[in-house]
Amino acid sequence: LDKKVEMSNWEKGNYINYKKMSENLSIVRGRLNRPLTYAEKILYSHLDDPHGQDIERGVSYLKLRPDRVACQDATAQMAILQFMSAGMPSVATPTTVHCDHLIEAQIGGDKDLARAQEINKEVYDFLSSSCAKYNIGFWRPGSGIIHQIVLENYAFPGGLMIGTDSHTPNAGGLGMAAIGVGGADAVDVMANLPWELKAPKVIGVKLTGELSGWTAPKDIILKVAGILTVKGGTGAIIEYHGPGVSSLSCTGMGTICNMGAEIGATTSLFPYNDRMYDYLKATKRQAIGDFAREYNSELHEDEGAEYDQLIELNLSELEPHINGPFTPDLATPISQFKDAVEANKWPEELKVGLIGSCTNSSYEDMSRAASIATDAMNHGVKAKSVFTVTPGSEQIRATIERDGQLKTLEEFGGIILANACGPCIGQWDRRDVKKGEANSIISSYNRNFTGRNDANPATHAFVTSPDLVVAMTLAGTLKFNPLTDPLKDKDGKEFMLSAPTGDGLPARGYDPGRDTYQAPPADRNTVEVKVSPSSDRLQILEPFQSWDGKDALDIPILIKAQGKTTTDHISMAGPWLKYRGHLDNISNNMLIGAINAENGEANKVRNFQTGEVDAVPATAREYKKHGIKWVVIGDWNYGEGSSREHAALEPRHLGGLAIITRSFARIHETNLKKQGMLPLTFSDPADYDKINPDDKVDIMCTELAVGKPLTMRVHPKDGKAWECKLSHTFNEGQIEWFKNGSALNTMAKKNA
Ligand code: F3S
Repeated sequence: LDKKVEMSNWEKGNYINYKKMSENLSIVRGRLNRPLTYAEKILYSHLDDPHGQDIERGVSYLKLRPDRVACQDATAQMAILQFMSAGMPSVATPTTVHCDHLIEAQIGGDKDLARAQEINKEVYDFLSSSCAKYNIGFWRPGSGIIHQIVLENYAFPGGLMIGTDSHTPNAGGLGMAAIGVGGADAVDVMANLPWELKAPKVIGVKLTGELSGWTAPKDIILKVAGILTVKGGTGAIIEYHGPGVSSLSCTGMGTICNMGAEIGATTSLFPYNDRMYDYLKATKRQAIGDFAREYNSELHEDEGAEYDQLIELNLSELEPHINGPFTPDLATPISQFKDAVEANKWPEELKVGLIGSCTNSSYEDMSRAASIATDAMNHGVKAKSVFTVTPGSEQIRATIERDGQLKTLEEFGGIILANACGPCIGQWDRRDVKKGEANSIISSYNRNFTGRNDANPATHAFVTSPDLVVAMTLAGTLKFNPLTDPLKDKDGKEFMLSAPTGDGLPARGYDPGRDTYQAPPADRNTVEVKVSPSSDRLQILEPFQSWDGKDALDIPILIKAQGKTTTDHISMAGPWLKYRGHLDNISNNMLIGAINAENGEANKVRNFQTGEVDAVPATAREYKKHGIKWVVIGDWNYGEGSSREHAALEPRHLGGLAIITRSFARIHETNLKKQGMLPLTFSDPADYDKINPDDKVDIMCTELAVGKPLTMRVHPKDGKAWECKLSHTFNEGQIEWFKNGSALNTMAKKNA
């Protein structure tokens, strides 16, 4: 295992370290003395301290050293801005940035791309220059969707990667543990801090039998989503295994892992196998395939490995499925779908069919889709519904252009969209129905929450395999089952569609297409990072001030939030997304969704100085202007939802000192600590009820010490002051973050 094999063809000097991984594993094996699942092998082989790390599935927090980081353009902005404030000359872990989320689908590929380049110019310029400066591989707009590019170029068996996007697990199709995280985690790894993950449970899915006919790899995850539901995978890695695995293509396995995000799984994984080898070879990485064969004994589960839960699926009996509407776990087999449409009164007419996206845009997917289209056109019929095709990468687009599938799909009626997220993330200028009008669409994407695709809450979005999308589009109705129902040809004669066929890999190899990659230059010193001071989308981050060393006395409660306060209430998404790279602008959404306990309303709080009722961010700004620190009082599980770091950056930016709650969602709690805030919990949760929104408080910051609660003195407007204890989970290192003003300030100090 001493070989030097590059992790990717695009970089020099970043080698796959199977030797170190195997050494770490043998240390852990000596300690645990039991068979390991594949998921555990990957995680434990990347431990920062394999000797000392506590290891208990579902309990311990693992400190890990990932091999790579991947960021998409929406989340990369704040991640890089934060990284810059640490003052390091280069990222410590190989990193790439992918421009895919900001491209809106309007008319079609090239035109939409050109429009996006104009609208997002300052963001792209910033990303491209900062990537060049800090040694980050940059994939320009038009290159494709992050997860497809990672599979084609960076994923490798046994590797550990984090990515700032929920569908990062797609790389599990190449046997990599790839985990979606928030920007704050990406920054840590870019800055050489170990990355923390609660040791996941492992759910085994044993596949037997073989796929055939209309059943596609997608149906495996559609079925599993139906079994486990959107919550069933939470805190777990889904590990596929068993003899059925060998009937799946590598990209098909990618699809399954990708959509595992919909059941809340930390990630999903397949063991190393020959189909992965074939894919590595086809994508010019045979050396990695050969190297992985040498390390093969550690690239699947040990015999007798135990799963926390085991599901068995016989692929020979698996039916094609359609999931939805509005949730990806409402799984209906095709044989029952017609009845479900009727019983639930789902709009029967199919308005739009969409194939592609990061989930389902492989060569195999496109070939199978084209085979159905060809079959239909041989009978003289074409798509009835609007039909769009999103190639996952420029390489896929160029290859299917060369091999003819693209032309077939176009002749069938397909609109070829840019190689980007487009309608999948709501970047879709949809004109065929009005907002609020009930209608049905079906896609080969992964996510179908209300309004996700077209911002129309009345759109019923279904997800399925690309095969069924094409077949349904052809019929123009949801009540069509291609396995049993005939269609009419151009002369009105009935015919049955043949089951789809298609190559897993292109016989003539992949065509790379246009050059869309920007490697970091050899001389990075002279590169200047481009941010216009007048930009309203980007703003260079100033390091936060360090703690003044004093207790905070007589400070106001900005808001006493009541009930559910998720990261969406704290930092709303939607139209605010465009300010992700501009902390001051996006801070105007701080806590505007939280319900004020004083009046039961959102975004209306009283300024204690003026007595006026105003918006939450405006009031915080007023306090900040007068040099007044403030706190937020919160309820149970404050900050649940996403790992969005803006929810922690904003209160810090607007002068907040502490967030005091009955309990925290852990990721948000850590994010607050990273930004130099004090996340504290009432030692007695009943104290939450005793606090009034117009009380003032003293926070005894000087008492902050590991394992000891600190004191809060409460001064009611009328009445006697009282004291209570606030608990916290700070460790030594994290207390330094608070003292220095943030985790990054602490890193910068160390690097100085
Ligand atoms: Fe993009 Fe949709 Fe995938 S938003 S990364 S195509 S899930």
